[in-house]
Amino acid sequence: MDTLSRFKPVALEHASRLINHGPTVLITSADGTRQNVMAAAWSMPVEFTPPRIAVVIDKNTFTRELIHASGIFGICVPGAAAMDLTFAVGSVSGREGDKFAQFNIDAVKGPVLGLPLLEHGIAAWMECKLISEKHTEDAYDTCFCEVVSAAADPQVFSGGHWEFNDGNRDLHTIHHLGAGNFALASDAVKAKTLAG
Ligand SMILES: Cc1cc2nc3c(=O)[nH]c(=O)nc-3n(C[C@H](O)[C@H](O)[C@H](O)COP(=O)(O)O)c2cc1C
Repeated sequence: MDTLSRFKPVALEHASRLINHGPTVLITSADGTRQNVMAAAWSMPVEFTPPRIAVVIDKNTFTRELIHASGIFGICVPGAAAMDLTFAVGSVSGREGDKFAQFNIDAVKGPVLGLPLLEHGIAAWMECKLISEKHTEDAYDTCFCEVVSAAADPQVFSGGHWEFNDGNRDLHTIHHLGAGNFALASDAVKAKTLAG
């Protein structure tokens, strides 16, 4: 795995903002000998401090097996440049072969948990510890976690805020519409305060 590159640390109190707007994410996992990555459209923050997140990860995935073996997982936020890759790793299982080798994926090593994390075409990542909740995992495939480290490409996220512009379109986050169609988070607008 490479060493960390252009990414800058994100303060943990700002970690929820990385997925507040509902991007499709990549879930990375490893158990010491095996590693994996899958796509997940269903994730959301559930607590600011400490930063906690819920992600739906189907119990039949290889990812769930590795997460239960290790108790940790990574959440990477792909940009438009990684859209095809996101769809690809969400369409095959790591049980059929190592997706990192199959799709030529470079990974860096997470600074706190040592998880494989993607940075090429990626806007941000988080390292997370599973919060074991057997009922929600069994009944709803919903896995809760606490974020212990986070970083983002300062071209698109800095000072705790996303900054989508024409110059960083490759890093605009992707939002799954279904069947491999995505919308980009390109048209950011600020709400006006209504008098009333
Ligand atoms: C765009 C996209 C979004 C997806 N979202 C989810 C999701 O939120 N939860 C989930 O369990 N599977 C989701 N999937 C399916 C998994 O990524 C897929 O089952 C994957 O092959 C599992 O890989 P694994 O067995 O290597 O862990 C999604 C797939 C795609 C293409």
